[in-house]
Amino acid sequence: MEMDRLVLQARLYDPITTQALRLAGLSSGMRVLDVGCGAGDVTFAAAAIVGPTGAVTGVDAAPAALEVARARAARRGTEPGGEREGVISFREATLPDVSLEEPVDAVIGRLILGHLPDPVTALRRLSRLVRPGGLIVFQDFDNHPLRVVPAAPLAGAVLRAIAEALTVDGTDLGAGARLYSLFQEAGLPPSGLSATTPMGGAEDAAILPLVVQTYRALSMAAFRTGTWAVEATQRIGDVNSLLDRMRSEIAEARAVVIMPTAVTVWNSVPKYAERTF
Ligand SMILES: C[S@@+](CC[C@H](N)C(=O)[O-])C[C@H]1O[C@@H](n2cnc3c(N)ncnc32)[C@H](O)[C@@H]1O
Repeated sequence: MEMDRLVLQARLYDPITTQALRLAGLSSGMRVLDVGCGAGDVTFAAAAIVGPTGAVTGVDAAPAALEVARARAARRGTEPGGEREGVISFREATLPDVSLEEPVDAVIGRLILGHLPDPVTALRRLSRLVRPGGLIVFQDFDNHPLRVVPAAPLAGAVLRAIAEALTVDGTDLGAGARLYSLFQEAGLPPSGLSATTPMGGAEDAAILPLVVQTYRALSMAAFRTGTWAVEATQRIGDVNSLLDRMRSEIAEARAVVIMPTAVTVWNSVPKYAERTF
C-alpha cells in the first residue's frame, strides 16, 4: 500500500524532480548515488538523465523497498528506451553509513533528509562521497501550500486531516523550506535552489488519487496507533467512495487542489577547497 502511494506520488513529482536535477547540473555520463531511494523513482529519473555512459546506484535501509526497486529496474531494462538509460544498481545501506569504492559525481536524494534524525551530519558525511567539483542535490516537500481554492468542504477536510496526521507522525511540514539552512549548517552553501508547486482540478489524473491514497495510508497508520481524530473521519466518510465524491465536489466548485511544494537545493563541491570536516 505504501509503495502504491509512493508510485502515485512519483507520477506527479517525477517530472519536477527531473527538471530540478537537470537545473542543478546532472548530465550525461555522470556516476550518481541516490540515497533513500525507496521504490527507485528518483534513481530511474537520474538514469534517464545520465544516459548509457552513466550509472546510478540507489541505496535504502528497507529491504522491501529495494525488492520493489529491483523488480521495476528489471522491467525497465526490457522496455523500449531502456537501453538509453544509465546502468542501475541498488544496495542496502542505512544513512549516513554509506561507503563507496570511489567517489561519485553526484549524491542526490528526495524526501529523505526530513526523515533523518541528524540531517546536518548526514549531509556532511554524504558530501565526502562526492568528487571535488561534483554535485549534492536534495529535494523535500514544503507541505504548507496544501489547500483547495475556492473552498470545498470535503476536500478541505481531507487535506486538513492529512496535514494533522503528518504533524502527529512527527513529519516536519516545512522540511523543503528548511533545506536551505540545512545546507548552510553543513558547510555546503547552496549554489542554487528551485521550488515547484503542482496544482490541478477534478480532471487531473494524478492529484486526487494521490490525495485519497495518502489519506487512506495515514488514516490506517493513525488508527493503528489510536491517534486518529474520530470526528474528522466521520465527516469524511467511506474511503472507498472518497475519490468519486471529492471529484464531483471539486468539479462543481471549479476548484483547484494545491499540492506540497517540491523544494530542491544543491551545492557544487568546491574543486580546490580543502574540506574542514
Ligand atoms: C519517503 S521515501 C522516499 C523514496 C524516494 N526517494 C522517492 O522520492 O520516491 C523515504 C525512503 O527513505 C528510506 N530511509 C529512511 N531512513 C533511512 C536511512 N536512515 N537510511 C536509508 N534509507 C532510509 C525509507 O526506507 C524510504 O524508502
